Amino acid sequence: MSTNKPYCLILGAEGDIGKAVAYRFAKAGFNLYLTSRNRDYINADENHKHWETDYQIHVSRHFFEALDFKSHELFYRNLPNTPEVVIGVLGYLGNQKRAQMDFGEAQKIINTNYTALVSILHIAANDMEKRFTGCIIGISSVAGERGRRSNYIYGSAKGAFTIFLSGLRSRLADKNVHVLTVKPGYIRTKMTGHMKLPKLLTSDPDHLATSIYAAMIRRKNVLYHLPLWQLIMFAVRAFPEFIFKRINF
Ligand SMILES: NC(=O)c1ccc[n+]([C@@H]2O[C@H](COP(=O)([O-])OP(=O)(O)OC[C@H]3O[C@@H](n4cnc5c(N)ncnc54)[C@H](OP(=O)(O)O)[C@@H]3O)[C@@H](O)[C@H]2O)c1
Repeated sequence: MSTNKPYCLILGAEGDIGKAVAYRFAKAGFNLYLTSRNRDYINADENHKHWETDYQIHVSRHFFEALDFKSHELFYRNLPNTPEVVIGVLGYLGNQKRAQMDFGEAQKIINTNYTALVSILHIAANDMEKRFTGCIIGISSVAGERGRRSNYIYGSAKGAFTIFLSGLRSRLADKNVHVLTVKPGYIRTKMTGHMKLPKLLTSDPDHLATSIYAAMIRRKNVLYHLPLWQLIMFAVRAFPEFIFKRINF
């Protein structure tokens, strides 16, 4: 176990992408703070003992409920060591149809994918700004690039998150704090388990985690995964609104 290695805080480490990202950073020799709101996960051993011996790192699990905004400051302050990297992976797809009828569902989608991350990442950012070091990684989505009828609540929250990360990157550019925006396309996870995904445009969490790690090392600003999505989104953004509004997707 090592405490002189840098710490990486993963918010939403129990999700499928969160798990893959945690494994990638463990392999790279980061000590890990893994968060979840599931007490069983916090108390279970998972494979983390394994990681500690294999990669000579320290791994601890912490309770974090993203929607309990008031708890964020204390949560961050109580971490035994200050993280060098903070990754916001948690998210909630929600149900678009329900969100149209029930503001509670819309609010949950917005608050999970946007408000909660603004709160906790600002706390981390303010700390990193003072220390003149650090990296913030936000998992947004290609869904945030243009509003579609089938998921515009989730898409608008992700779009707002993308803009937040862009502004934060600019604010911290001369403070030696790097901000990476990740825009995955389709990834095979619990979140998309009910969807039929096109093979060519779909990736898996391990592949994404590898791309995220490489992008952080290269200090990339925005990562599209898979890269083909960058081209697709260019085309999607270019569609005139009078045609786009008629497309049923
Ligand atoms: N899968 C895709 O195709 C895809 C594409 C683009 C972007 N993304 C983004 O990638 C990220 C990870 O998604 P995933 O596919 O790995 O989904 P996932 O397996 O469902 O993971 C989402 C995680 O977020 C956690 N979470 C949700 N609400 C929370 C809250 N209020 N407090 C604390 N944790 C909360 C979930 O915990 P619980 O299990 O306790 O609910 C879960 O561990 C999300 O931001 C998602 O929007 C995914």
